[in-house]
Amino acid sequence: MKIFKNKHKLQKAILNQKNLSFVPTMGGLHNGHISLIKKSKKFKGKNIVSIFVNPKQFNNKKDYSNYPRNLNKDLSILKKLKVDYVFIPNKRKIFSFKPKNNIYLDNFSKKLCGSFRKGHFEGVLNIVNRFLEIINPDRILLGVKDYQQLHLIKQHIAKRKIKTIVVKCNTIREKNGMACSTRNKLLNKKQTEIGSKIYHYLKKIRKKPVYSINKMKEIIKNFGVKKIDYLEVFSLKTHKKTSLINKNSKIFIAYYLGNIRLIDNF
Ligand code: PAF
Repeated sequence: MKIFKNKHKLQKAILNQKNLSFVPTMGGLHNGHISLIKKSKKFKGKNIVSIFVNPKQFNNKKDYSNYPRNLNKDLSILKKLKVDYVFIPNKRKIFSFKPKNNIYLDNFSKKLCGSFRKGHFEGVLNIVNRFLEIINPDRILLGVKDYQQLHLIKQHIAKRKIKTIVVKCNTIREKNGMACSTRNKLLNKKQTEIGSKIYHYLKKIRKKPVYSINKMKEIIKNFGVKKIDYLEVFSLKTHKKTSLINKNSKIFIAYYLGNIRLIDNF
């Protein structure tokens, strides 16, 4: 496993790689990341993982400083997985060059997380655009748990005619049903139990065609959730609210357990 902090040295090493699979991360690696990395190894060629806690996608300074970081542990996980290349850029340098492409921000960025986290998706696309330019991977693997992020990166890649293919990967869940997330590391036992209840409840609701958002919110609040940023059903075709739960729609939720913000979709 080769670790690079400098983009020029990385670029020199991967210059002749014809088949490169890229998994971007902010570290704090969990089973979701591990599954993306294992999937990336199924493709021919080499794989590369980036670790960078991107300040530009945090709309809250405290959330950025509290974000779990454990580089040594992450590196030992990546070594065990036999990752070929790891890129750990320096905060100042990664933002110091002007990328060839400017970011394309689809309208979907204004909805759901976009309406609660100002500048979040601009921040995500800013860094992903830089990574794509530096690494020029053949494919990028992204999880459906971050559905909006996945869609917006896909749109950016299409509009800017970038040759990278987006590989959409299923949400990986903890034994208790909660979607794997680096932020789960910050939860206490009680909060984890509430997260698990929400999962079981929404999984059940998913099977019912008709629903009442207010009723659902009330039930989730009764589990002990103080704040729900949103709980909506969106059509996957139009990315607009819909009154029907079916195979063409998804339930999206963002909620707080204490001051930890979690998202999921069903
Ligand atoms: O999903 C994440 O961890 C981040 O948003 C990403 C894609 C690595 C960009 O910082």
